[in-house]
Amino acid sequence: MQGLRELITDAETRKAALGHFNISDSEGLRGIFNAARKLSLPVIIGTSEGERDFLGVRQAAALVKSLREEFDYPVFLNADHTYSFEKIKEAVDAGYDAVIFDGTELPFEENIKITKKCVAYAKGKNPNILVEAELGFIGKSSKILDTIPEGAQITEEHMTKPEEAAEFVKETGVDLLAPAVGNLHGMLRSGAEPRLNIDRVRAIREAAGIPLVLHGGSGTSDEDFKDAIKAGVAIVHINTEIRLAYRKGLQLFLQENPDEIAPYKFMKGAVQEVERVVGARLRLFNNL
Ligand code: G3H
Ligand code: ZN
Repeated sequence: MQGLRELITDAETRKAALGHFNISDSEGLRGIFNAARKLSLPVIIGTSEGERDFLGVRQAAALVKSLREEFDYPVFLNADHTYSFEKIKEAVDAGYDAVIFDGTELPFEENIKITKKCVAYAKGKNPNILVEAELGFIGKSSKILDTIPEGAQITEEHMTKPEEAAEFVKETGVDLLAPAVGNLHGMLRSGAEPRLNIDRVRAIREAAGIPLVLHGGSGTSDEDFKDAIKAGVAIVHINTEIRLAYRKGLQLFLQENPDEIAPYKFMKGAVQEVERVVGARLRLFNNL
């Protein structure tokens, strides 16, 4: 089976991107895994600090590993948005395939310093692990937003600068970089999602010399996704859309079956809806 690094290179060659989808529990995982398997596409599962506090750091690792082994399938686990070295260490020790140190709200030098420490620890423990860093604030929550969060860098002059990206990558030795290019965590209630700056994506990819990760994928237009992938995005993160799908699927099932009390029956509503949404995103990211 190909490793995550090779699959990312392969996606770049195909002008496609790997889908990264967040989970809070085993039902979300099942929905995502089903969708990926039906399309025979590799997939990355993400757990933020809050999501893995709920599911369990080691339990998330065990669940993903069990699917990978049982089905001999390229499914990987990433410690999404991690705000301290200690939490990075915990995920690395638990066997995660990738980790993200998110120091985007720290001063540039401080972000470099801690990211470097995370890279050294992670690679020392597992030479195959991928370490990602964040440069440029795009908001923090995968939820429905009434307004653009304060400080989110969606105007051109505040987006990640190619020269900063180059310096950051050179100093830290990260494998993947998540820039601010007009993307936003969460989805605006109005539906008026900001547009991505594709020229900036291309310039950052060129200057940084490593694959880019597009965060805040929910609500992005199909056209922007396609153009950003062609310009250098190799992984796309989606969370809010999955949370909405999960909740909607469960709610609908319970409305239609108000007397159903067996979790293994009513949770199927959530699993199926997550599967549907993830399947559509995976097809788009892979030009299918
Ligand atoms: O790391 C998670 C993603 O960036 C999720 O963003 O909730 O806007 O899809 P999203
Ligand atoms: Zn993110």
